Amino acid sequence: MAVATSIFRNVLDRRHSLPVRHAPGRVRRICPLRPSAPRSKTSSWAEQSVGLQNGHWSHRVGEPASDPLVTRTPHCGHSASDSTCHLLVSSSDLEVKIPTVNGIVSIDGMVVPAGEARVSVFDRGFLYGDSVYEVVRTYDLALFELGLHLARLASSAERIALSLPWTADRFDREVRRVVEASREADAPDPAAAPWNLGECSVRIVVTRGSGELGLDPGLAVEPTVVLIAVPLRGPPLAAYREGVAAWPFGGPGAPRRGGDPAAKTGEHLFHVLAVREARAHGAQEALLLDGAGSVTEGASSNVFAVRGGALETPPLGVGILAGVTRAVVLDIAGRLGIPVRERPLPLAGLESADEAFLTSTVREVLPVVRVGDRPIGPAAPGPVTRRIHAAFREAAGGGHKPGKAPASV
Ligand code: PDD
Repeated sequence: MAVATSIFRNVLDRRHSLPVRHAPGRVRRICPLRPSAPRSKTSSWAEQSVGLQNGHWSHRVGEPASDPLVTRTPHCGHSASDSTCHLLVSSSDLEVKIPTVNGIVSIDGMVVPAGEARVSVFDRGFLYGDSVYEVVRTYDLALFELGLHLARLASSAERIALSLPWTADRFDREVRRVVEASREADAPDPAAAPWNLGECSVRIVVTRGSGELGLDPGLAVEPTVVLIAVPLRGPPLAAYREGVAAWPFGGPGAPRRGGDPAAKTGEHLFHVLAVREARAHGAQEALLLDGAGSVTEGASSNVFAVRGGALETPPLGVGILAGVTRAVVLDIAGRLGIPVRERPLPLAGLESADEAFLTSTVREVLPVVRVGDRPIGPAAPGPVTRRIHAAFREAAGGGHKPGKAPASV
């Protein structure tokens, strides 16, 4: 599609100042991705030849294929003689594997349906996880704590020396725009918690942008901003009523996670493998253990234990993300007079707690009733967890409109 094509073209244009012309009516199809597709004079076909010659990238447009090798292969053919790769680019012929996702996407401020959203394969977010992100959600389609999320986005970007291309005001405006555009996108889910019905979440992703291949961040031309608004898929109501299982991952002697835990970056493989392990054991979330065997946080959540009526949670200093929901919960605990002890949380300490819960934007306050093979307390959501979640529901709002289901568990 046009966005991906133009990003790629812009990269070549700006970095190499090479002549680029587009002559859709003149082009010859030398690299058919879909050989039987008809082509009209007004189609967006554009033949581009891109290659490394004498150590420099060359870029030719609209030249006929003279090398027979080029026409031989059904996909992109390489000419053996000049190492030139002949590409034929068409928005309709890019057979990108995109899952059927119901949502709206904005790419650098251009809003498109989710199924049509594409970014360049040269984007460093795709190649290296060289990106930062946030996940925000709505209540009654109003964004919850967007300011805090945008502040954390700025902090994450600073921590990886990525300079954000938009001001906070622009992010604010564009996020509201995709939320507005994604209205009515969802079919009601009968198992959903009532406060999630009809709501959406927005993933804000800023990558360092596209450029020539290589780890050097200086190769990036300009950051890419992607906003993905999808119907909110939180835990089902049953998860709040019955609690969920969590599975420990890592610990002494295990490989350590990479990156800066305080920055919300696209580098995720450790977390992906942690969740894979948790799911393999029937658990909903993975608990990340440090080298001393203490629980630091969940793969995408913060962790709390309840003991003797007080909350225990690892301090930011152990290397965790400063969760927005965690901060709201600490504030609620203060208002309710519930003591909080921020200190390292050994796995054994969590296992022997009276109650436990996870916090995150999408989960809110989710009771954990089993860690590994062990039940927590009576293996049912406890009174302190319920009290905190009820207060959170009250603070967050949503689900209070007439005609909507009750907002509490
Ligand atoms: N994850 N810790 C980690 C490692 C996280 O990825 C997240 C959020 C949290 C909770 O932060 P918050 O309360 O601000 O959502 C803690 C998001 C939701 C995600 O990756 O989907």
